[in-house]
Amino acid sequence: MNSKRVQILSVGSSVPEAVLTNKDIESFLDTSDEWITVRTGIKQRHIIPKGEDISAADLGTQAASQALKKADIEPQDVDGIVCATFTPDYFFPSTACRIQAALGCKGGFAFDISAACAGFVYALTVANNMILCGQAKTMIVVGSEIISKTLDWTDRNSCILFGDGAGAVVLQAKDDLSKGIMASHIESDGNLGDILKLPAWGDKRFMQMRGNEVFKHAVRLMSDTSARVIKQTGIGINDIDLLIPHQANIRIIRAVADSLGFPMEKIIVNLDEYGNTSSASIPIALNEAWDDGLIKEGAKVLFTCLGGGVTVGSALVYF
Ligand code: UT7
Repeated sequence: MNSKRVQILSVGSSVPEAVLTNKDIESFLDTSDEWITVRTGIKQRHIIPKGEDISAADLGTQAASQALKKADIEPQDVDGIVCATFTPDYFFPSTACRIQAALGCKGGFAFDISAACAGFVYALTVANNMILCGQAKTMIVVGSEIISKTLDWTDRNSCILFGDGAGAVVLQAKDDLSKGIMASHIESDGNLGDILKLPAWGDKRFMQMRGNEVFKHAVRLMSDTSARVIKQTGIGINDIDLLIPHQANIRIIRAVADSLGFPMEKIIVNLDEYGNTSSASIPIALNEAWDDGLIKEGAKVLFTCLGGGVTVGSALVYF
């Protein structure tokens, strides 16, 4: 039995300034603000303008630096960085290594995780386990994505959904068992790899998605893994103060809420402003909730997400 638990000490986020609204998209694609709003809940997304040289490492560094400042922790005290991204700057060095250098960390390890939109909970789970095993005391988990560069901007099924952004949390081991990451569960089904993919080679190097199928699996798997971590901790659904789901589609979020019997009033939704930022969506939403005073002492917060792979993850954190 471990005598420590891993706490989320702070969170930071960063999105590009430039905004692309549904109305802007209407000007070059056969779609409408009304269709996008009704079918997804998205009104706009932040994206890096074409030609601007801002990378996932840049946004990730800004988010991580903000989180470190809030936790009052120096970069040289960080033992490890895990970055979840499917839009790395390079195959190598990893985005995490680039963030490590940009932050001015001395020593420690850094590596990336590829789990698409479930990347944040995957990275959180891996970092949590590394800290509990004694391999690190203080870690940063980053989710950072420049998705706009991976999209086929003539494909109205996919390009309307996504935005760029990054979020980061600082984790630390504490001797207090009453709070921290209480349970997490990650799962994949490689047989569903074809429903959402981004080829690395060939002439179709853009995101390809069978939206309807992704939708159904998202509702089922996010609900199942959420129920599983809730059960692991032994609390009831009514004891959870906030649900921060991956921000993919308001209809997916409503269906997960329905399936769990969880009220929409306790769910953080910001996809209207950012669209789907993949591994960054949960930490960006957490940062906003924190700034809004919703992450109170003792708050029980559930994260849940699904991504290409198919990958799925849920985590229950007491603050
Ligand atoms: O992080 C995980 C990443 N991905 C997701 O979570 C995506 C999950 N899936 C979804 O969010 C939804 O499936 C979409 C938003 C992608 C699509 O919504 P839908 O309600 O499942 O629409 P649909 O694919 O069933 O398409 C309905 C109609 C079709 O027209 P017809 O065949 O009925 O005439 C589409 O061609 O809507 C049409 N359509 C559009 N119309 C205007 C599809 N995209 C658009 C569009 N604008 N952007």
